[in-house]
Amino acid sequence: MSAVIIDGKQVAKDIREEIKVEVERLTQQGVRPGLAVILIGEDPASQSYVKAKAKACEEAGIYSSVIRKNETITESELLQLIDELNGDESIHGILVQLPLPKHISEEAVIQAIHPAKDVDGFHPINVGNMVIGADCYLPCTPHGVVELIKRTGTSISGKHAVVVGRSNIVGKPVSMLLLQENATVSICHSRTKNLADITRQADILVVAVGKAHMIGAEHVAPGAIVIDVGVNRVEGNKLVGDVRFDEVKEIAGFITPVPGGVGPMTITMLLKNTVEAAKKKMMA
Ligand code: GUN
Repeated sequence: MSAVIIDGKQVAKDIREEIKVEVERLTQQGVRPGLAVILIGEDPASQSYVKAKAKACEEAGIYSSVIRKNETITESELLQLIDELNGDESIHGILVQLPLPKHISEEAVIQAIHPAKDVDGFHPINVGNMVIGADCYLPCTPHGVVELIKRTGTSISGKHAVVVGRSNIVGKPVSMLLLQENATVSICHSRTKNLADITRQADILVVAVGKAHMIGAEHVAPGAIVIDVGVNRVEGNKLVGDVRFDEVKEIAGFITPVPGGVGPMTITMLLKNTVEAAKKKMMA
């Protein structure tokens, strides 16, 4: 039997409607949520992500400021810019689009963003709070993944979740969030031996590697929930995931498509964090 296709676009749309109402309410109370997005250089993928983020802000009524800088910007100039935004009352969230040019330390940039404005949830203080289950900004893609799993109506508690990929942006944090939801979590990566033997044990399989079509039918147990975080450009500029969708959908219970699965949820969670940041500022 063919899997239920998880419509991330629709779920994102529903949540964005709720966010819009919240933004209206906050704006009426005198605090319009504001997001600053810094884009360095000309990377086409980053440009398109930033454009999508600004458009989503506009649709939700969130003020957004996209700051584009040439890739010749120095690290100290960028840190100075972040410092100014940290002190800007109209900005509640700051996002520096990654990756950065090689001469700039991502770690230094992430740590320069005030944790209260770190709507990406990448600052070590937010990461630490996430790991211990304390109040924090959850990283957008991992949060979107968990939200999509929950909306299948399946309880995560006690399930075996296998995460393929261990990046700081997705693999590691999504593993922690699934653990927080009481899943039994296995993390696989490039050095994992017999990958398919492990992924076939998954009730929930999250793939976040960035390698087109690496996961096929042989990796998936019948009925599993398969979440594909991969975004890969192949011949003809076509967008594909890390999962061979056509073959896996015949085995899985639920599956996310690429595009239209996790992608729209990432931006939605960014909007949610920005609204949260504005609310916290108002209450401070
Ligand atoms: N580059 C790819 N994904 C992300 C993300 O979630 N946040 C930022 N800042 N950069 C990214």
